[in-house]
Amino acid sequence: MPDLPESLCYLNGEFGPLSEARVSVLDRGFIFGDGVYEVVPVYARRLFRFDEHMARLARSLAKLRIANPHTSADWLALCRKLVAAQAVEDQLVYIQVTRGVALRDHVMPVGLAPTVFMMASAMKPPTAEQRHRGVACVTARDFRWERGDIKSISLLGNVLARQISADAGAVETIMFRDGHLTEAAACNVWIVHEGALLGPPKSEHVLEGIRVELLRELCEETGIAYNLRPIAESEVVAADEILLSSATKEVLPVTTLDHEPVGHGAQRGKPGPVYARLHEAYQRAKRAQSI
Ligand SMILES: Cc1ncc(COP(=O)(O)O)c(C=O)c1O
Repeated sequence: MPDLPESLCYLNGEFGPLSEARVSVLDRGFIFGDGVYEVVPVYARRLFRFDEHMARLARSLAKLRIANPHTSADWLALCRKLVAAQAVEDQLVYIQVTRGVALRDHVMPVGLAPTVFMMASAMKPPTAEQRHRGVACVTARDFRWERGDIKSISLLGNVLARQISADAGAVETIMFRDGHLTEAAACNVWIVHEGALLGPPKSEHVLEGIRVELLRELCEETGIAYNLRPIAESEVVAADEILLSSATKEVLPVTTLDHEPVGHGAQRGKPGPVYARLHEAYQRAKRAQSI
């Protein structure tokens, strides 16, 4: 086993060192992947878009018929304690809730105490070089299950998808289902067409990233047209810009897709103007919307 950090974590009511936290082998998270998670970004020790993350956690739990074990105020207090214990200012708080411990049976047992695990770690943001040059992505068929809307800890499909890009030396795998854009292994994906930011519509095939609504707000603020609609693979290949969004990547430009430069004319293969405006607006939002 690799050396685990001695940092503080939370497990079922107790704070203690991460290296000493233990759960039962009969936890349904371990046996079935029967649980959900959240990842909340933290800037200067303040939680960004916290209420939105809590609302999504509540939606994910409801879809699995797991009772939310804490109020939003409780979650905030737990998060703040973990954040305060970390040495670095910019962090990610990871929250996992599983259905709990039971003898193995696919049917959902009722009345279990959910297992709650939380940890904070240093955020690993994109490098200055990645922001300056943009990143490479590859494409793949979306072979994951059909409930990408649930932020499930069952991430084998996403792990397999991400490894396709890792093996190709790229940062993400952009996926298509029936010829239409869904998302990447751990990011939402956007294209720019005629100055507008376009993303796939909300559906059971795509996780509703917290940045989906945030980018709508940032587009409104900066005067960029924003539309969620089905996006054909051919539109992605021909896009003026391609962007990734996630808690750690914020917004990040994709400048190479399957080894071909993205975009047209002088902008080809370079981060574009819509990216630059959204990245700047995002930095302002971080300062304004962290608690
Ligand atoms: C599959 C998937 N899609 C999209 C996202 C982006 O979501 P968010 O903006 O909430 O980080 C993530 C984040 O981890 C993800 O795992």
